[in-house]
Formats: sequence, C-alpha cells, structure tokens
Amino acid sequence: MTDQNDSTRRITAKAHPNIALVKYWGKVDTERNIPATGSLSLTLDTLATTTVVQHAERDTLTLNDAPAPREASRLFTFLDRTFPGRPSIAVASENNFPTAAGLASSASGFAALTLAVDALLGTGHDTHRLAQIAGSGSGSAARSLYGGIVRLDTPQASGDDIHLTQIAEAADWPLEVIVAVVNDGPKAVGSTEGMERTRLTSPYYGAWLEHHAADLDRATEAVGKKDFDALAVVTEHSFMKMHALMLSAQPALLYWLPASLEVVRHVQHLRGQGWPVCCTMDAGPQVKIVTLADDAVRVQFEVESLPGVRSTIRAPLGQGAERLA
Ligand code: DP6
Repeated sequence: MTDQNDSTRRITAKAHPNIALVKYWGKVDTERNIPATGSLSLTLDTLATTTVVQHAERDTLTLNDAPAPREASRLFTFLDRTFPGRPSIAVASENNFPTAAGLASSASGFAALTLAVDALLGTGHDTHRLAQIAGSGSGSAARSLYGGIVRLDTPQASGDDIHLTQIAEAADWPLEVIVAVVNDGPKAVGSTEGMERTRLTSPYYGAWLEHHAADLDRATEAVGKKDFDALAVVTEHSFMKMHALMLSAQPALLYWLPASLEVVRHVQHLRGQGWPVCCTMDAGPQVKIVTLADDAVRVQFEVESLPGVRSTIRAPLGQGAERLA
C-alpha cells in the first residue's frame, strides 16, 4: 500500500448502475456473498455514482452530501474485509439519479468505491479482481466494473470466486433502457434480506436454481447473434420466474404495484405489434424496458403517457467503472 500519510490526495472514481436481464436471486455463500446463480446485465450510461476517497483520521461516509451512518457500517465492514490493514478513509459518494428510481445504487456504489480505494491504497488489483471484490459487497456490483453487456458466472468449485465476462461492448449492439418510475417510496424489503428469505422458505427455490444455467446460455447466445427477439423471450422469462419465486417466499415478497402491471402488459402488447421491446423488474415496482436505440424515443413516449407512470429515465449502454482523477 502507498501514500499512507498523504491526507491531501483524493481519488475519484465513477461507475454506472446495471440492469440484469437474467436475474441473480439467492446466494450460495452469504459470508462471501457468492451468488447461487449466474446473471447477465446491461451497464447503463448517463446514470452514475461518483465517489471520492481520501485518507482521514477516522472513517466517515457522506452520501449525496449528507452523513450516512446507517450505510457506513456495511461499507466500512466491507472495506475491513477486502482491504485488510487499511487506514481510515473518508468516503463521499454521489448518485446523479434518484435512489427511488429502483436502479441498484448499491451496484454502482460498491463498484466505484472498490476502484477508488484500490487506487488510494495502491493495491493494484486488475479489473477482474476488483469485480470480485465489489461483488463481495453487493452481488450485482461485480457487473458494474464492466461496460456493455456482462455475464457473471458462479464459481466452478466451492471456495472459488465468481467469474465475469464482457460479452459485448456498449458500441457493439446499441440497446437502450427506459425506466418507468411508478412509485418513489423506499423499497419494502431489500434484495439481501429478500433473497435470503426466498432461499430459506420458498418451495420453488430448487427449481429456480435448476433451470437458471439454461437461461444464461440462451441469453448469451442471443447477444452473440444480436437476436433481439430471442433476448426478449429469455429476459421476460427470467424476471417473471424471479417474481414467481419471490411470491412463493414466506412471507411473500410482492414488489408489484398496479401501475407495474399496466406497464408490463403494455410492453407485451407493443411486442405483439412487432415493436422491439421487452421488460424486466427488480426488487421494487419500477419497470425497466429494453429496446433498440432507433426505437427508444417512441418507446419512451408510449410509456410515459401510461397512467401510473410518474416519470421515465432513458439510458443507452455505458462503460465500466473508471477512475476520473
Ligand atoms: C433483483 O446485488 O442488490 O436486482 O448481493 O445482497 O447486495 P446483494 O444483492 P443485490 O441483488 C440484486 C438483485 C436483483 C437482480 C440482479 O441485479 O441480478
């Protein structure tokens, strides 16, 4: 580690959130935060977390300029484990998108933090290792180290780590995502708690694991062929299956609002009419619609006029996490 005493040195790193088309839901190792399933995601441009770190007399965290003691405990415990023997660090993190947009701020947050702290301490990990470290903070964060379309594979053998592959660069296939925000309240049950509840109580959890690899391979093949229809089919199947699984937990995890259903049905209607659209949802009521760049403006127009849609955010595919200064 270098520059231990230089308290004036500031490192800035930026990372984008990502949206999974093939979903991660459930862990095989909660201590190391190893997902039980692989996943495949789109890294988004435009939306970003920017994180500044510097040496300090004690650990401090601000999120969007306000002290964040609740998040600080998870964050500094993560840093203690992943950068053992580290000095105290001041972390200031800002999201340029509302947390309530249902975009995983933990993904871009842990990705930017890992990259920034690695640079501050001079640890010198490569991108793949940084992704594994970020993933041990939040599973989806591993994918935000890479841009474009990213595949996460689970460990081959117990004790191994996850493996990340960028299967397409952002420019290879101009997809866009439109987030339909239908509610701006906080999440009912967060992902970490929700997926543990599901693993422990759902009678369908075994079936979810059993069929997951096939979805991942189908999606990877669709990306390789730039076959939007094939990608749309597996994307909708994966998120519908995940929500069916969530509903089968005890107590059930019901993230949908009536407006979510309206949007999903409308997207299905548009696809039936030949539009290149499909959608997905995460641990919240917002609906994320995937389309081709040429159609993104008209899809956004359609979606924002639906009742119950409060706002929309449109984002093309973006780059992986990067150091700014
Ligand atoms: C529904 O990565 O937030 O968005 O590893 O516990 O931090 P932790 O979970 P997190 O879960 C993301 C779940 C999801 C699907 C996905 O992004 O693959």
